[in-house]
Amino acid sequence: MKLVKLASITKKMTLAAVGAFLLIFLPMHMGLNLCIIRDDGGEWYRNVCHFMGTNWIVKVFEVILLATVLIHVIVAILLTIENLRARGSVRYAVPSKTKTHFGSKYMIWTGGLIFAFLVLHFVNFYFAKFGLVEGVYTVKTEKLQMHITDKVLDIQQQMENGKIDQQKAQEMMMNLQMEYMPYLQLTQSGQPADKLSKDGKEIINLRGKKELESFAGKDFTDYEPDFYVMCNDLFKNKMYSLIYLLALIILGVHLFHAINSIFQTFGLNHRKYNKAIEYLAAGYAVIVPIGFAIVPLFVLFCK
Ligand code: HEM
Repeated sequence: MKLVKLASITKKMTLAAVGAFLLIFLPMHMGLNLCIIRDDGGEWYRNVCHFMGTNWIVKVFEVILLATVLIHVIVAILLTIENLRARGSVRYAVPSKTKTHFGSKYMIWTGGLIFAFLVLHFVNFYFAKFGLVEGVYTVKTEKLQMHITDKVLDIQQQMENGKIDQQKAQEMMMNLQMEYMPYLQLTQSGQPADKLSKDGKEIINLRGKKELESFAGKDFTDYEPDFYVMCNDLFKNKMYSLIYLLALIILGVHLFHAINSIFQTFGLNHRKYNKAIEYLAAGYAVIVPIGFAIVPLFVLFCK
């Protein structure tokens, strides 16, 4: 019985098509995250995250990406349930001799584990962007400086308009100075040094909203997650590094069969070049997880 009135082949091709799209995302995500190991105090990685977090084309891509992840998971579950129902509880007396890749029997399990990893991964990083979890934050000094300047100009304006007298204006200026003292001290003295980027253009490593507000004030909203510090913090934790490394091994097993299956689903397999497809799948399924694994291993053993 069909759960969704779409032919199984349509579902299988949808699964393969959105899977192929995710194969484009992974090497890009891996490459960007490898910037973490560069010895520049996080300058490149923060710039990359800032670009990824503010560029509208990337934002459109992000929505498409999340939609494809969801479609991939839902269609995979639908197909698995339909296959189980089609096969029923009776197993073949003689196990089939057809050559199946190691990972193919367990695709729904490796897929399920990767989805569980993604949920954890979103809690570790992605949800910090939307304030769903407490994170570490960074603020562009230029933007904060403009925010403070606007406040100073507003006080001057109010005085010129006679809304407040000079004494009140001085009092408000004093309060402003008190409110932004940590920021002023940081930009003037560079101390504490772990709060200022090497180029002085960013206040970094602001741990939680409380510290963020102590530097940027309660009404400053133009801040971003400091994913560089969040990645280093996470992977210094041996348990998290182990979870990520195990998830990457499972991802490799899933990807190896997935890539072979995509070619099969679109009828692009032929005994003349099936071997080449297998090598391509093996190469991708080994290189991409290793590329990701370099980050936790580097933070754990080289930082
Ligand atoms: C070393 C390993 C990894 C690191 C350091 C890492 C880091 C990050 C960070 C910082 C974000 C938030 C970026 C942003 O939204 O601006 C993110 C988002 C995301 N990650 Fe990862 N990631 C890793 C591995 C993976 C793996 C293996 C997958 C897939 C199986 C994955 C899938 C995603 C997805 C789908 C998003 C949300 C969309 C996006 O923002 O690009 N990540 N990751």
